[in-house]
Amino acid sequence: MKARIRSIGWEADHVLCFRLEPLPGAHFPPFTAGGHIELALKPGLSRSYSLLNDPAETDVYVIGVQLDPASRGGSQHIHEHWRAGQVVEVCEPRNHFPLNEDAELSILVAGGIGITPMLSMIARLQRLGRRWELHYAVRSRSRAAFLDRLGGYAQVHLTVDDEPATPRLDLAGLVDSAPAGAHLYCCGPAGMLSAFREQGARLGDRLHYEYFSSDAPVANEGGYQLLLQRSGKRVEVAPGETMLDALLGAGVDVGFACYEGVCGSCRVTVLEGVPDHRDSFLTPQERDANTAVMPCCSGARSSVLTLDL
Ligand code: FES
Repeated sequence: MKARIRSIGWEADHVLCFRLEPLPGAHFPPFTAGGHIELALKPGLSRSYSLLNDPAETDVYVIGVQLDPASRGGSQHIHEHWRAGQVVEVCEPRNHFPLNEDAELSILVAGGIGITPMLSMIARLQRLGRRWELHYAVRSRSRAAFLDRLGGYAQVHLTVDDEPATPRLDLAGLVDSAPAGAHLYCCGPAGMLSAFREQGARLGDRLHYEYFSSDAPVANEGGYQLLLQRSGKRVEVAPGETMLDALLGAGVDVGFACYEGVCGSCRVTVLEGVPDHRDSFLTPQERDANTAVMPCCSGARSSVLTLDL
């Protein structure tokens, strides 16, 4: 879909907020709290960003983009090239981080720019009249985006790393004291997510998380073969390349965005063989079942991996 950048706002150091609207006569599909859109930035460069506005708003998508110093092109491209009035390409919203709207209490935990999906969740929970609380950790106050939207709520707890007087974020305490009907959500840096998953493992499907980056090493050792069941093609994955590199190099059309196993865009069904999972997207159950693989970052433990492509 085409979208016009209606306005750009400054939210914090290195964080800009973009309001996107459809072109005249067109409409945006609705989205749900926690959802995201994928942006086609230029050939070969797509990225996913959480929608942060109220899902009840029609024909408006709002995203927050933090300039990542380690950017592999996505946030840097947006910060340097996007201007108000410009027309950009977006894909329709998806949601891998949905809200359980029946929970007695929603405990939201955000680290840095991981605040963005929480904002749409808060808007939705407010409309539903549901109980929620937010624990928001930032490195410094100057980097705390969207604080003005949260200032009116007593149930927002802010941790500022370089202000020791603010209460520290106690993930173990949050998990241990969560009431039986509570659902817990976390979006933030990989370290925070890993700790959250570890602390809350016993909560099962009451634990929800979304990665926006990964620190897991990509599997690019190669040395295995892909058998594409539907086309009958065989593709060799050479040392130094990822499974996705090999597929794209062989002219196979596979969608992708983050290139680091966090967005879910490249998911492929595995029919036979054992993947070497390196993503942060599949659930532990999905990993154990070996029925899906994220080719942007994962490899193979078997010499042949048969894919539903
Ligand atoms: S491209 Fe995002 S998970 Fe593979």
